[in-house]
Amino acid sequence: MKNYSHRFRILITGGGGFLGSHLCERLLDDGHGIICLDNLFTDTKDNIAHLLDHPHFELMSHDVTFPLYVEVDETYNLACPASSLHHQFDPVQTTKISVYGAINLLGLAKRTKAKIFQASTSEVYGDPEVHPQPESYWGKVNPTGPRSC
Ligand SMILES: NC(=O)c1ccc[n+]([C@@H]2O[C@H](COP(=O)([O-])OP(=O)(O)OC[C@H]3O[C@@H](n4cnc5c(N)ncnc54)[C@H](O)[C@@H]3O)[C@@H](O)[C@H]2O)c1
Repeated sequence: MKNYSHRFRILITGGGGFLGSHLCERLLDDGHGIICLDNLFTDTKDNIAHLLDHPHFELMSHDVTFPLYVEVDETYNLACPASSLHHQFDPVQTTKISVYGAINLLGLAKRTKAKIFQASTSEVYGDPEVHPQPESYWGKVNPTGPRSC
């Protein structure tokens, strides 16, 4: 029997994506309330179709480059075009999502005093010579190359 005495309200941006949809499932299963925020830029509702009728699941259609005002206990910021095909479709928008998205979500976390998790990507290492990349590796980055966004 699960203990639901600590039900959190959790915001998952990019919640309709590959990682986000699994996280939504897991945290719902743990008894929490989920706000799944996604503009469905790279995905359809397919990943979360089975969650839409769950009483503690709410889908919010929103773009993280714009501020948002919700009350939450925890935030996972996973919203970003993740594959090279997607993040290079509109490199300026990808940069805005990474930067404005993080700033908006950090602002929300500060206002609500919510814990925040920020997803990163191996793309920050550029075209690395070392696999997998340890924390001590600084990468091989071309700041104006196609992966720079
Ligand atoms: N999948 C992996 O193996 C992996 C590994 C390391 C890091 N990551 C990082 O984790 C995060 C999620 O990865 P994923 O594989 O689930 O990607 P994904 O493409 O499956 O999901 C990303 C989601 O973000 C949404 N999104 C994109 N732009 C948005 C915006 N402006 N506002 C709101 N939602 C937006 C997309 O519609 C999509 O549903 C990314 O930041 C990625 O770089 C993923």
